[in-house]
Amino acid sequence: MHDISFGKAELSEALRLSVLLKTVYIQTYDIEGITIESANFITKAFAKERIEGIIKDHRSQFMVARHRGNLVGAAEILFDSMCPIRKIALPELGKLYVLECFYGKGVGYGLLNAVENEVKKQGFKELHLMVYIKNTRAIAFYERQGYVTLGMTDFKMEHNTYKNLVMNKVLN
Ligand SMILES: CC(C)(COP(=O)(O)OP(=O)(O)OC[C@H]1O[C@@H](n2cnc3c(N)ncnc32)[C@H](O)[C@@H]1OP(=O)(O)O)[C@@H](O)C(=O)NCCC(=O)NCCS
Repeated sequence: MHDISFGKAELSEALRLSVLLKTVYIQTYDIEGITIESANFITKAFAKERIEGIIKDHRSQFMVARHRGNLVGAAEILFDSMCPIRKIALPELGKLYVLECFYGKGVGYGLLNAVENEVKKQGFKELHLMVYIKNTRAIAFYERQGYVTLGMTDFKMEHNTYKNLVMNKVLN
């Protein structure tokens, strides 16, 4: 897509990453309004300081999509992860979040491509991810990008447990 570039997140982008992740999370999951559970979750998980820590940590990484220098999407790679189905160490796509007004323009695809290239560059041959079973748009997107479902796992929050699909791709 024109005017979109992809690359590793800079430390100076942590605040914008924090706002982007919170925004996309709310738009995707809080479709009945913002619950106290998700407010607590996103405040902690997407705190600027926590994101700065992830950017500095070599075991994880954020890739970002920039439009005229502004953030429009982000993906998190967790190199030190484990597939919950196969119980083997494998890198994980922790997040893939695109701002809603940039949907359908190739930003998600471009980010995923950047993530897969980075994972291969680091010497890994597979990538797995977890996606909420009701997130049909994302599941269809991942299937079109070659990810296959291995099974299901639980994602526990404060009061609720959410069923997630575990998907995997062998990178060529
Ligand atoms: C799932 C998600 C990441 C997809 O991102 P996206 O940027 O909309 O995806 P893309 O634009 O790359 O691909 C979507 C479609 O647009 C098409 N597309 C690609 N480039 C395009 C372009 N320049 N113009 C128009 N359409 C384009 C793609 O071919 C694809 O078509 P298809 O669905 O028929 O295969 C995005 O919807 C999102 O962030 N959702 C909320 C968060 C979420 O659920 N994340 C996943 C769980 S962690």
